[in-house]
Amino acid sequence: MTKDTWIGDVRTGEHDGAEVELKGWVHRSRGSNKIRFIVLRDSTGTVQCVIKREVVGDETFEAMKGALVESSVILTGIVESTEREHGHEVQVTSAVVVGPVNPERPFPITESAMAEAEGGETEFLLDNRHLYLRTGRMTSMLKMRSTVFGAIHSYFRDRDFIEYQAPNFVAGAVEGGSTLFEVPYFGRTAYLTQSWQLYAEAAMPALERLYTMAPSFRAEKSRTRRHLTEFWHAEMEMAWASNDDIMVHGEGVVRHIARSLLDEREAELIEQGRDLNLVARYADSPYPRMRYDEAVETLQGMGVEIEWGQDLDYSKEKVLTADFDVPTFLTHYPRIAKPFYHRPDPDDTKYVLCHDLLAPEGYGEIIGGGERTWSEKEILERIDEEGTPRDAYEFYIDIRRYGGVPHGGFGLGVDRVCAWLTGAEHIRETIAFPRDSRRVTP
Ligand code: 4AD
Ligand code: MG
Repeated sequence: MTKDTWIGDVRTGEHDGAEVELKGWVHRSRGSNKIRFIVLRDSTGTVQCVIKREVVGDETFEAMKGALVESSVILTGIVESTEREHGHEVQVTSAVVVGPVNPERPFPITESAMAEAEGGETEFLLDNRHLYLRTGRMTSMLKMRSTVFGAIHSYFRDRDFIEYQAPNFVAGAVEGGSTLFEVPYFGRTAYLTQSWQLYAEAAMPALERLYTMAPSFRAEKSRTRRHLTEFWHAEMEMAWASNDDIMVHGEGVVRHIARSLLDEREAELIEQGRDLNLVARYADSPYPRMRYDEAVETLQGMGVEIEWGQDLDYSKEKVLTADFDVPTFLTHYPRIAKPFYHRPDPDDTKYVLCHDLLAPEGYGEIIGGGERTWSEKEILERIDEEGTPRDAYEFYIDIRRYGGVPHGGFGLGVDRVCAWLTGAEHIRETIAFPRDSRRVTP
């Protein structure tokens, strides 16, 4: 069975006056004993279909009357241009129900249930996530998400980066032990990876420019607006590159994502209530840079309690970025605030050559990256300084033993970027089945 006609095309007027066969789901249904109005939905939109008893006959009319919301149906009819709903209507000539809905178990996500959920009670919608995906809000979010993924692929592929995959079961931490997920692994303990980075560095001397998009895992206990336990991570690694070279690509890919959303998903952005001017600004303006020390002074000047050497947590990022118009890079964090792989700044080894990109509007850090420690001596020093056992990192140290070169990379939180650019309240709105500390179902 194939499908030839899409509701989105009916709405452009392409089929006016012609007979079409529409396959989809009943979005709304109302009517009398003589006439029934079904708003039919498919992945491209909705259109009103008019079913008259005198045209389709009693049997078909009764069947369509019994087709409850979310029943799947095939409707054949003539497309008419009208003044009503979206300017087009289908006068149905024949119809069949493909997958009915049992009247004893009607589709649970009704407009009133949604209205209640907006009022704070989202557990209901999360429990019914598998059905909630069909609603307009989720559908347009998933389309925008697809555009974001496509934009990341095209950005890197157009610049000769090779897509490369790293394992998800790993033996050691990348981003510190506190957020590691342990997995029983045939009598040993393995972990779910927090980042592809260490394995990307292993391929760096082979491929020189590489990228991935894959899930990363963090055992984040607290539920926040910007954390998932399983998130999608776009990461890149590049040989012969400095912190500045890496930031150029971080800025480049984020601006390209914003531009792609404007070009391909304007209607969906508007549907989510996003201000297009903001997205255009994020696509067109350069992203400024600020050193960590300056950020700390700024925060202290604002009366925020922060000590030099602390990483910036969300509450501090929020205050700092409140006045930012565009994403801003924070560079040169203190060495004690960042994991072992960051390269100490040769000009002042209290600092590392790294960057975080902070998004405005309270969305916080969307990219973390920088230069890697690339000599054997320095990496051993950094691993020991962190107090991590060397065993799990032998392969990583080897990369430095055989022709180490300056290199670097970054990781971008794809779900966070989706949340920020679409203006979502919560990161879980951006992914089909969000995972957090309280939920692995459905
Ligand atoms: O800053 P992070 O921890 O950096 C790394 O993992 C590096 N190894 C990446 C690299 O250089 N290849 O994570 C990178 C980004 C963050 O800036 C954030 O956007 C996102 O990943 N992120 C999360 N997104 C959603 N939920 C979480 N729990 C996240 N943790 C990090
Ligand atoms: Mg980070």
